[in-house]
Amino acid sequence: MKTDYLKPDRTGIERAVAFWRAGEAVAFPTETVYGLGADAHNDRAVAKIFDAKSRPSFNPLIAHVATVEAATTIGHIPDAAQQYLANGWPPGLTLVVPLQREAGISRLVTAGQDTIALRVPTAPLARDLLTAFGGPVAAPSANPSGRISPTSAAHVRAGLDRRIAAVIEGGTTAAGLESTILGFDAAGPLVLREGAYEVPDTLRRATEITRGHGPVAPGQLSSHYAPRAALRMNVVRPEPDEWVIGFGPGVAADRNLSPLGDLVEAAANLFAILHEADEKPRIAVTPVPNTGLGRAINDRLARAAAPRDTES
Ligand code: TXA
Ligand code: MG
Repeated sequence: MKTDYLKPDRTGIERAVAFWRAGEAVAFPTETVYGLGADAHNDRAVAKIFDAKSRPSFNPLIAHVATVEAATTIGHIPDAAQQYLANGWPPGLTLVVPLQREAGISRLVTAGQDTIALRVPTAPLARDLLTAFGGPVAAPSANPSGRISPTSAAHVRAGLDRRIAAVIEGGTTAAGLESTILGFDAAGPLVLREGAYEVPDTLRRATEITRGHGPVAPGQLSSHYAPRAALRMNVVRPEPDEWVIGFGPGVAADRNLSPLGDLVEAAANLFAILHEADEKPRIAVTPVPNTGLGRAINDRLARAAAPRDTES
């Protein structure tokens, strides 16, 4: 695909928004780093982000919105978070909060979890883009998986040229460091990732006393997203009592991740089908090629197949 390099003006914003509406991924600057954004309501658009980055697993993504009000329609902002938002959403801060299911966010954005990471960027260009789009934009940093986060459009071009629809050339990002991620539990706020927003000392002390250890990496338990049922992978001949998740043409299945054998489509359908599978006692999944997005799909299936850990 040819990547468009857009100016940070009215026309550039209109074209970026048109790509988002068409389900494409567009890189844009925030005050932290460049994000690779797509319509957070659109499974297929979000799957394209993972494809472009060659991410080997489905980490949950941050949903970016234009206003605090918009954030409150997607997540339940806990009381403990209000102190941070008293003067508007601060630069470089992401909050992980309970998801409002009715908001219709793609399950790929949350990796099937019941929390969502929300951020209101303060960079004017990012705000203008999000306002013009009028909905949530899911965006990880705009770098290939395993590489450092981009702080200029040139970095994005070096990593993702010809893999995404467009890049808005909005200069160098102010912070040059990813956002700070705060989560909340019964004990209060919890720093999940250090970053651009400076966490007040009072909170930090409280957090460390409560926890006694470092940042929590989300979704790392092997069976974190496991359905209740027993799930087998790479099954060529399913048992008669198994509910079959298939992939590709000519495969007999109860649900097919992609009848055409398209891995982007399969990724887009994965979480909804696994959610449905949650009610079935036995599940078999036919082979999914372990290339491109297939690696992330197989990683997710392997977690679903793993014996359940005890977890909170
Ligand atoms: O500054 C930033 O945060 C940039 C800009 C583009 O917003 N984004 C960014 O995204 O760094 P990414 O995907 O590279 O890192 C987001 C982190 C991941 O480590 C992910 O696991 C975590 O946020 N995360 C997202 N949703 C989460 C959730 N529901 N619970 C816990 N962690 C979550
Ligand atoms: Mg990143």
